[in-house]
Parts: sequence; structure tokens; C-alpha cells
Amino acid sequence: MLTMKGIILVGGKGTRLFPLTFVVNKHLLPVYNKPMIYYPMSLLFLVGIKDVILVCNPDEVDEFRELFGDGSELGVVINYAVQRKPAGISDAILCTKEYVGNNNICVILGDNLFFGHGLPQMLDEAKKDVERNSGAYVFGYYVHDPHRYGIVEFDSEGNVLSLQEKPKKPRSNFAVVGLYFYDKTVFEKINKIKPSFRGELEVTSLNNLYLKEKKLKVKLLGRGFAWFDMGTYYSFLEASEFVYTIEKRTGLMIGCIEEIVYRNGWISKQQLLEIAKRYKNTDYARYLVEICNED
Ligand code: G1P
Repeated sequence: MLTMKGIILVGGKGTRLFPLTFVVNKHLLPVYNKPMIYYPMSLLFLVGIKDVILVCNPDEVDEFRELFGDGSELGVVINYAVQRKPAGISDAILCTKEYVGNNNICVILGDNLFFGHGLPQMLDEAKKDVERNSGAYVFGYYVHDPHRYGIVEFDSEGNVLSLQEKPKKPRSNFAVVGLYFYDKTVFEKINKIKPSFRGELEVTSLNNLYLKEKKLKVKLLGRGFAWFDMGTYYSFLEASEFVYTIEKRTGLMIGCIEEIVYRNGWISKQQLLEIAKRYKNTDYARYLVEICNED
């Protein structure tokens, strides 16, 4: 049976966050009370994707493995692929080929945080669409600084006209967020891509190949959604403040992978309590214990 595989990209040098990321991988830095990678990983779990591949820098696999092991403690499967040098998102996807086989994939950038009511349902529809009809599915989000991103341009009827990577003069304010669904033709398409002016195999070039075949769907995430790309000091701090504010107000966690796998029925109450014990005398541990005590 085919299963959709989740891919989280956690390589790169994080140069825009130096000196923070001089010795620590960006995706392990704290975003309020969790390592950054928890947020994209939680989204995969919320969509029911439990077979995950992390794409890491060669000398950093061990750190991620120390954190997640083979995934069995979370009731999931986690594999580690290596990207030898940072050569773009499409190149990173190519590094997962042997783990993915003939399956469809959902790719999420390790520094992207999403939040919004109904998001898992929306992503589930995208997942099912790619499973049924093949093709690719991406998401647009209105931003004030589109030149920082891949952007998507629409005509007056909402058809996609073009996609551009970090254009100097953006033709729209819609950024393409770091979350992509692709069918199994993804690897043959990546093999056709040429490096961009910055020497990378861009994800935008990949999306453009799907667009050319009329196999690209773009859905907009409206104003009710929050999207952060935690790649600069400011966006990193904004994301932390956002998580802190919502969690403090509601008492509910954002991106708590242990809670999600428990509620998904992937681990037992006993297993969740074991994890809580490991987190010692922290609010995080108390939160997990509280969940176990719910009716
Ligand atoms: C990457 C992609 C870009 C996308 C962005 C989302 O940019 O190249 O298309 O909009 O992620 O976070 P980068 O993080 O490499 O600047």
C-alpha cells in the first residue's frame, strides 16, 4: 500500500541567524518551550503522516537521532537522510529518494510554523487530492515583504500565472509557504531542474514544472492563519512570542508532538507518562500528565 511520507528539511547553515547557529543547528533552537523542529513535525502528525524523513547536514544526524531515535517512542517512523551540501530545497528532496520509493510526499521546511483553525482538515484535503489525482499542491499567504519568498501570481479569475523565487519586483504579495505536497513524479522532475543564479536547485523551479503540466494547485491560507518563517532574528522572536502568547492565554500547547501522537492513538497513556517522567519537573511534563488525567 502507498503511504504518504513526510519530509522535514533541517539542513542548511542558518547563516542569517549567526552567531546563534554557529554551533547549534537552527532547527534545534528553542521557540519558546520547544525545539523549532517540533512545530513542522507536529503539523505532519496532525495530518496523519507518521512516516517521516529528516534531511540533515552530514555532521548533524546524530543530534537529531538523539532527540527522536527511530521514532518508536512517539509511535511513528523517523529516518534520516543526508544532504552533503546546502544546494537548495529540491536537492534536499532528492536526497530522500531511497526512503520514499514510489510514494507521494509532503515536504515541510524545518523553520516554518503554521497555526490556524481548520488547518489539518485543509491539508488533509490537499493530501487526498494528490493521492487521488496526482500533481502538486502548494499554499499561498499574503505578506508585506514578498521579495523574501517564492511568490505566486494569479489572474483575475484566480488562475496561477507564474511562480518566481525572491523576485526584486514581486508581481503579487502572495508568498508560497514552505509546505508542499508532491506526487511520485517529483524525483524525475527534480532531475530536470538546472541550478538557479544562487547555485541552488530551487523549489520554485520544481513547482514551475508542475505548473507547466497543469498539475499544480495553489490554495490560499486566509487572514485567519498565522505563518512564520523563523529564518531571521526578528521572525524567530515573533514566532516565539506568538507561541508564548497563545499558550499562556489558552493553557493549550502549540506544536506539542507528544500530545498529538497520544490523541492520534499512536501511543498509550503509559507511554505518554514515560515521556513526561523524562521531562522531569517542568511545566511541559505537567501538561502531558494533565492530558493523561483527562476523561
Ligand atoms: C524558501 C523557498 C521559498 C519559500 C520560503 C518559505 O526560501 O525558496 O520559495 O517561499 O522558503 O519559507 P528560503 O528559506 O530558502 O529563503
